Amino acid sequence: ADKMVLPRTLVLVGLMGAGKTSVGRRIAQRLGLNFIDADAEIETAAGCTIAEIFARHGEAAFRDGERRVIARLLEEPVHILATGGGAFMDPATRDCIHQRGLSLWLRAELDVLVRRVARRTHRPLLNQGDPKEILTRLMTIRHPVYAEADIIVDSLDAPTENTVDRCLAAI
Ligand code: S3P
Repeated sequence: ADKMVLPRTLVLVGLMGAGKTSVGRRIAQRLGLNFIDADAEIETAAGCTIAEIFARHGEAAFRDGERRVIARLLEEPVHILATGGGAFMDPATRDCIHQRGLSLWLRAELDVLVRRVARRTHRPLLNQGDPKEILTRLMTIRHPVYAEADIIVDSLDAPTENTVDRCLAAI
């Protein structure tokens, strides 16, 4: 593992398709730390998929669960935490991340995001229309908020390991 001591849990934020989960998993391996995906934790806690939570209870209920799960995960020992794209947009979740974590915005160009989300269809927010239009709208709203992250790293159309190297250099 790379020699580095993380003072706080590294929290990956950014839009769907930015690579938070794949990059986060590799950073954790390189640092010899635990990796946790908040979306997967929410699914385990709820006993159903995120798409089902949205369909049955709506987005607001999902955000409530997300807020609780992330607050709990940030009380655990230092690890690498990938969050869903909307998590950092929630003021209470964002405060919690600012207080207890080290946030890293994985910033990607629209075309990169569109190409990456085209491969999977499990994201309820992208099933409501043209993913490119939806992502464009989300970028306008979310980028100014993601920009509050402690660290910003560009997620290029490059091998994951390249992005991981740049994240480790930026921490
Ligand atoms: C969402 C992103 C998803 C998931 C949910 C909502 C969002 O996570 O939390 O579908 O609001 O951007 P990923 O960013 O991991 O796809």
